[in-house]
Amino acid sequence: MDRIRIVGGNRINGRIPISGAKNAALPLMIASLLTDDTLTLENVPHLADVEQLIRILGNHGVDYSVNGRRERQIEGYSRTVNFTARSIVDTTAPYELVSKMRASFWVIGPLLARMGEAKVSLPGGCAIGTRPVDLFLEGLQALGARIDVENGYVIAKTNGRLTGNRYIFPKVSVGATHVLMMAASLAKGETVLENAAREPEIVNLADCLNAMGARISGAGTSTIVIDGVDSLSGARHQVIPDRIETGTYAMAVAMAGGDVILEGARADLLQGALDVIAQTGTEIIPVNSGIRVRRNGSGIMPVDVTTEPFPGFPTDLQAQFMGLMTMAEGKSRITETIFENRFMHVQELARLGARITLAGQTAIVDGVPRLKGAPVMATDLRASVSLVIAGLAAEGETVVNRVYHLDRGFERLEEKLSGCGATIERLSS
Ligand code: UD1
Repeated sequence: MDRIRIVGGNRINGRIPISGAKNAALPLMIASLLTDDTLTLENVPHLADVEQLIRILGNHGVDYSVNGRRERQIEGYSRTVNFTARSIVDTTAPYELVSKMRASFWVIGPLLARMGEAKVSLPGGCAIGTRPVDLFLEGLQALGARIDVENGYVIAKTNGRLTGNRYIFPKVSVGATHVLMMAASLAKGETVLENAAREPEIVNLADCLNAMGARISGAGTSTIVIDGVDSLSGARHQVIPDRIETGTYAMAVAMAGGDVILEGARADLLQGALDVIAQTGTEIIPVNSGIRVRRNGSGIMPVDVTTEPFPGFPTDLQAQFMGLMTMAEGKSRITETIFENRFMHVQELARLGARITLAGQTAIVDGVPRLKGAPVMATDLRASVSLVIAGLAAEGETVVNRVYHLDRGFERLEEKLSGCGATIERLSS
């Protein structure tokens, strides 16, 4: 299993290209199931989760080509990928595939809307909490689906088309908003989704669906109105830059010091998080090519944060921010409100010398002047990158084990960081 070796202490200086957003690319790829035309997506990141979803979509009959060529794996940033679901050959998403990636459950929406049926394995347990699917099922039922859960599978059926309706999410869910937006696009009549997620990835999907002929308004606000259409066509659409990758590298600079331009980053996609990073004493300067992040000399100021749905501070940056706070000049409180059990990085950060105590869903971080390198274990995607950025600032050598988590969501991480002067390499085994 690959490991990442870091020798901390170097400042980070230079340019880091920001990749297309994993969390935008996945639902956009799934939207290709809604039409028999070709959906062309630009700026698709080369990540393990993207490759896994390509396999899952292939199982349903989606054909794909990369940059015009039909190849299994193509190296390089920012690929253009064509997806064509000329005919759906299978409406079942089996356990073996769905259990590897939770977002693959989302195929339930387009399959049901286009084919009138879908049989999708429950995603099962997940390292960062129970993550149920009740909102998906309740929402699809509101659109007229009959739902049964048998032997670990959700079986969704409809006689004829789904029917538009009003559905109020009892809790904000990114995934359920994606799925209901896709399903309602092909439903008969108008659907109104209230208390919908407002994340930029929702807007990116709505824009793509509209380019395919859907009639969606209000994406990015908590009320989304979808006027169902009979069919959707192909389109060409661009994946937005990854705001979580942007925030992660901004925090790496805040922690290790240095001066970096995050190329292609868009400040409007993560303004709340950038404001928090600025409060730590880091300069955040919008420039033509992206965002410049700079910290030279000054100490790291402690800042309290609470994770919230967009536009609040994202849960996907919580672990990285905790990494940054371990070296702040004082105490900070970090509260997680989205997922239970998303503090598994705490004990690994402690191995580097961090002082953190947990009180329920709040972590109290008592900053220390220096961290010391150690072997650590990645437990999930965002937790593992928090260990990388802490390792960049720690004295001596840090080896991060189980890096397959990183490969799910960070494109060419070690190449991007070593290009800016960090000592970081992959140890393949
Ligand atoms: C997406 C992101 C993930 C991010 C999360 C929150 C992708 C591929 N993943 O995950 O990186 O951390 O948003 O910003 O985009 N919930 C229910 N019932 C449901 C669905 C969700 O109770 O049917 C709960 C979840 O357990 C969680 C909360 O709602 O506590 C938010 O989850 P949700 O927004 O659905 O997260 P995902 O879409 O899975």
